[in-house]
Amino acid sequence: QSFRRLEYRPPVYTFDQVELDIALDPARTIVKSKIEVIPGKSFEPGAPLVLAGQELEFVSLRINGEAHRHFELTPEALTIRSLPNEGKDQFVLEIICICVPEKNTTLMGLYVSNGNFFTQCEAEGFRKITYFLDRPDVMARYRVTLQAREAECPVLLSNGNLLKEEKLPNGWHSATWEDPFPKPSYLFALVAGKLECIEETITTSSGAKKLLQIWVEPHDLKKTRHAMDSLIASIHWDEKRFGLELDLERFMIVAVSDFNMGAMENKGLNIFNTKFVLAQPETATDADFANIESVVAHEYFHNWTGNRVTCQDWFQLSLKEGLTVFRDQEFSADQMGSESGRAVKRIEDVRLLRQLQFPEDAGPMAHPIRPDEYQEINNFYTVTVYEKGSEVVRMYQTLLGRDGFRKGMDLYFKLHDGQAVTCDDFLAAMADANGKDLTQFRNWYSQAGTPRVKVEEMYDPAKKQYHLMLTQSCAPTPAQPEKKPFHIPLKMRLITSANDLPEQLLGLTEPTQSWTFDNIAERPVLSINRNFSAPIHLDFEQSEADLLSLLSSDDDPFNRWEAGQKLAMQMILNNRLPDAALMNAYRNLLLDPELDPAFKELALTLPAESYLYEQCSSVDPQQIFTARRAFRREIAKQLQLEWAALYQQNQTPGPFKSDAQDSGKRALKNLALSMLLEADPKIWAPMAINQYQIADNMTDRYAAFAALVIHGAKGANDCLNDFFSRFANDTLVIDKWFALQSSRPPVDGLESTLADVKRLREHPAFKLNNPNRARSVIHAFCANNPASFHQADGSGYAFWAESVLALDPINPQVAARLARALDRWRLFAQPYQSQMKAALERVAACPTLSPDVREVIGKALGN
Ligand code: ARG
Ligand code: ZN
Repeated sequence: QSFRRLEYRPPVYTFDQVELDIALDPARTIVKSKIEVIPGKSFEPGAPLVLAGQELEFVSLRINGEAHRHFELTPEALTIRSLPNEGKDQFVLEIICICVPEKNTTLMGLYVSNGNFFTQCEAEGFRKITYFLDRPDVMARYRVTLQAREAECPVLLSNGNLLKEEKLPNGWHSATWEDPFPKPSYLFALVAGKLECIEETITTSSGAKKLLQIWVEPHDLKKTRHAMDSLIASIHWDEKRFGLELDLERFMIVAVSDFNMGAMENKGLNIFNTKFVLAQPETATDADFANIESVVAHEYFHNWTGNRVTCQDWFQLSLKEGLTVFRDQEFSADQMGSESGRAVKRIEDVRLLRQLQFPEDAGPMAHPIRPDEYQEINNFYTVTVYEKGSEVVRMYQTLLGRDGFRKGMDLYFKLHDGQAVTCDDFLAAMADANGKDLTQFRNWYSQAGTPRVKVEEMYDPAKKQYHLMLTQSCAPTPAQPEKKPFHIPLKMRLITSANDLPEQLLGLTEPTQSWTFDNIAERPVLSINRNFSAPIHLDFEQSEADLLSLLSSDDDPFNRWEAGQKLAMQMILNNRLPDAALMNAYRNLLLDPELDPAFKELALTLPAESYLYEQCSSVDPQQIFTARRAFRREIAKQLQLEWAALYQQNQTPGPFKSDAQDSGKRALKNLALSMLLEADPKIWAPMAINQYQIADNMTDRYAAFAALVIHGAKGANDCLNDFFSRFANDTLVIDKWFALQSSRPPVDGLESTLADVKRLREHPAFKLNNPNRARSVIHAFCANNPASFHQADGSGYAFWAESVLALDPINPQVAARLARALDRWRLFAQPYQSQMKAALERVAACPTLSPDVREVIGKALGN
């Protein structure tokens, strides 16, 4: 079954006040709802009321206090007919039903994790709790009473403000919560169990006092400080940058170790994967600290962009996700504390976009940031909707300026606070607040695929003129053979020795467009798409000399990094080693005392294999792996002295700080360590072992551990054993232990990683139904270890097929994510391509596939 954006109809009925009474029992939770129903925008007298419901045991139905018999039940819906006065007047609906949280392994709806109760309702999980108009354009006020045995569930949480708590007979107790803001069902949440919190009271811009809490299992309390600091920083930042204040008396974050995604922005009660809450220097890396800061911010920012203004339908998902990712990226950039820090954050974000979103945009699941069709909405929580969506929002800011963007945001909230709206509404607010025509900009919402911009340049020394010609195109994507031209904002600068020409913003709107620049005294070097102002591929045959010059001195740090990436990419794809000129540029960059260590680390990190694949018309994964590794080894060997010096110079003595400065130094130092082991594991392994043993933080300990394992160095096995026993009680750290082994690239003389992975799957600590653990073994191998996964005999793909089929009956969302690992099969050379196709067909042949996996596999095979 397929859903289409243009088939949207407003609701026939809608809800006003919702009262829920939930008696929590893992084996049999009784859910009573009492709902005030009123006609909706598509109402016609006599229309039936169709409520969604899945995996529920129906008990009873009353209307206006009377038992009602005119209804039909299917596995997906409860259809109610013969409503009082043909449904024209408000009526009160009362439903009782039962669900079984302890059997719910899908982690959608109400489920149990480590003995505690949690919910996940986005996108369509509420229908697994009770029969409901489970769609985002039905916004209601909720009052929720939770009941449970006090000994098992001392803590009872839901959205909004706590109204009252009561003792009940037989050791039960209850808590009643009221959320003053109307919300769609996907923002509902409850949490119950044995949890403890840290709390803080803060004063927000209006002078109001707010209670902030972070709830975790008792043994994790000591790991909550960083999340709390991140939350407080996010609250202040949103006031300062967007004038948006926290609107509830209390704001809670709860951590759960069984969770399908990163986190969820339920109103006033955010629920997080423990991975994005818990951190201490001894157990979390700098990357973990940064991820926590950004996910806490992301969910908090949803309170305005997502909750106060929500989506009309799920095709509009990027309205809240693209915008909120943009906001969290800007927040994290500001937290870096310097201009060079902002650039580092930008480079990291673009690298992620290219590694993950560019392949998606070129593959069988390609979709516009506002999709037109889906079979299973859970498959559309994608890097396109999120990360490309954020790039599209960023382009408004590039076109309108920061102030213009802020004006657009202000108008958006002024017009739409409390409503469920569309991407068109957002665009209109941006256009109207700035008096701009953004009609063509809409193509970014409707067309999939990464646009290509071809650059041709000509310098005329006689006339002192520089000519620039840009041509845009976009390859066909599923259901979109032809594309209209995009409005592409390109920041550019002509760089000359006089260094006197300013940065400009070019608007590429036609298929082909030319510009002439006068009074250019010498042939300039073009720096274009600065700061990655548009999410495009550039086809620009820029000479190696020009690229080297940009790498050594472009004043735009992004393009400086980009020039180095492009040089390395071209050489790797041509099976070349770095030449003397590039090596020299690397050396100068590493020795430059003005440059941020974090920038150096990024500049010396080679393009990912997945990004290299996208540059080829027929991928030989083993050849690319070998060429890339040889290239890296050459940098490691030729700069061995420099790496050794950097290793010493970038130590961070003194108490651990997770700030941008120190984590940048650690990043560079640990790249140096890894390069040294790449150059000569025999000489340098003892230094890595020493770092492993004396480290006072996980970043350094893990980096040393990883360098040893990845280079197959002597001592790696002792480290593996030591690491496991040292952290045996820390689930998130053990996930790292699994993931490192599964993502270890092939090492000469060692057994294949697939053999390791199969052993890990039998390890007593492996759990297929815990998403983090499953991902740390299976996804880490299938998605993050290309050279081990792509075996000519198809053994990696066979493992993938088995794993998808094993996961699907347990958790379709996690299985469908894994299913995406073969998306790009058509891009591969033989024999890989046929082997992948066979694996896809094997999965497709399973008659009981979930709709989630069926959609992914079906689209991959082109049905
Ligand atoms: N809205 C959440 C976020 O981006 C993601 C939740 C998605 N969950 C799901 N099951 N599809 O923060
Ligand atoms: Zn989000």
